[in-house]
Amino acid sequence: MYKSEKNLREAFAGESQAYQRYLAYARRAADEYREGVYKLFHAVAASEKIHAQRHLSYLKGIQTTPENLKEAVAGEMHEFKTLYPKMIAEAKEEKQQGPEISFSHAGEVEKIHHALFQKALEDPDGFPAQDYFVCNACGYLVAKEAPGKCPICGAVKKAFYRVE
Ligand SMILES: [Fe+2]
Ligand SMILES: [Fe+2]
Repeated sequence: MYKSEKNLREAFAGESQAYQRYLAYARRAADEYREGVYKLFHAVAASEKIHAQRHLSYLKGIQTTPENLKEAVAGEMHEFKTLYPKMIAEAKEEKQQGPEISFSHAGEVEKIHHALFQKALEDPDGFPAQDYFVCNACGYLVAKEAPGKCPICGAVKKAFYRVE
């Protein structure tokens, strides 16, 4: 099982990355009015998502909702407390302004993810089914209504879209 577990982890990471990459490629193809290629990337992304989730399920990576929420709370905290601060410092060191902004925006938003998951963990049954809005520039996430201006990156209201 040792090798297969390691391979499942590797395959999960690879398929997850392919999923994201193909969605980004699909968007580029759509921007270029290449509808056939857009649909192809979109379809292959859907297929990669199945692979990724299946590998994850064999890693016993999907548990009950309270356990999943606990895992999510811990993961988000690790990102904003440890992972991103280190990456931000290293980007500063190397004067890489783009990555520095990308890391620091993500780190700020992980705090919001953490707070939402924490709240849901406290009462998984009573947690409200609400609409969410995401800033298309920095990923800032907010429930119920989009703000006039993104508090993380300053983007205007129309940069927000409702998550389906
Ligand atoms: Fe997050
Ligand atoms: Fe934003």
